[in-house]
Amino acid sequence: MEKEIRRIGVLTSGGDAPGMNAAVRAVVRTAISKDIQCVGIRRGWSGLINSDFTLMSGSEVSHILSRGGTILYTARSEEFMTLEGQQKAVSTCKLLGLDAIVAIGGDGTFRGALAISRLGVPVVGIPATIDNDIGCSNYTIGFDSACNTCIQSIDKLRDTMQSHERCSVVEVMGRDAGFLALYVGISVGATAVLIPERKPDFERDVVRPIQNARLTGNTHFMIVVAEGAGKAFHIGKQIKEELGLDARVTVLGHIQRGGAPSARDREMASRMGYAAVMALNEGRCNCVIGTREGALVETPIEEALAMKKSIQMERYEVLEALQNRLPRYSPLNPAPAGK
Ligand code: F6P
Repeated sequence: MEKEIRRIGVLTSGGDAPGMNAAVRAVVRTAISKDIQCVGIRRGWSGLINSDFTLMSGSEVSHILSRGGTILYTARSEEFMTLEGQQKAVSTCKLLGLDAIVAIGGDGTFRGALAISRLGVPVVGIPATIDNDIGCSNYTIGFDSACNTCIQSIDKLRDTMQSHERCSVVEVMGRDAGFLALYVGISVGATAVLIPERKPDFERDVVRPIQNARLTGNTHFMIVVAEGAGKAFHIGKQIKEELGLDARVTVLGHIQRGGAPSARDREMASRMGYAAVMALNEGRCNCVIGTREGALVETPIEEALAMKKSIQMERYEVLEALQNRLPRYSPLNPAPAGK
């Protein structure tokens, strides 16, 4: 990048995530440490179209590290996906003297970043979504906090399901991905987890795990469903009809998007915010910050958008193995010869 960076914009876009404020804070503070001015763009990309901004001093970002949500608000902007909207945004950047933008969000945010970078505005993206479904990064800000919220909620549900000897069916977010559901499922010892990456089969994925658990005397059951794999209400109804179990359904919904960010999210957001500004300060842009085996890496935006993250199915095997309470073979069911 030829032009020296003197002033940058920072925005949050898409579904909010705990840790976004920590990332905004890190961007502002790192910029100031490099004598770069920082302008907060409100409401995602639409803030550029509507000139909705505020100058960010160091004190503006005091006491936000531990707060969920985003002080810059967020929104999904249809107008920004049009060339006219993007051109309006570029003229705002020129008007404000913005040399670059740091965009914090998910894949929709990075599609906007690619578009505006093609019109000459340098951008660096920071992955922040509770879905953890960004291909260029092992981890996205907000995922750990959302997992902890789900785990605390499901632990509470387990108490009452145990008392009433019921089956709980819990629907978690994740859009089209099952990272949240599988990670949470293992962490709460779910009887079964349904994820979109493994086409659900009611008999294999619900009936059999419940029957196995019943074999060892379990009288309450916990089914975790990723929203992309089905509707918890439908699965609860099927359990009642086909297994005669008293099922209760909980859709955790947007509680997963709130709450104070966890230590992991605060630390990751701080490092990613710092890395984004340092990339710009050292002349690199049009990339997305990500983690690979614990190190921070920069991936060109177009390449990042083409990357897909597949779920580690061995985690599914862990879940199933840890559900086993009976030895596979017993005097009544002897192992075949040679086993
Ligand atoms: O992408 C984050 C996410 O929370 C998804 O898990 C969920 O499906 C979606 O956003 C909900 O979007 P909204 O907040 O617009 O209802």
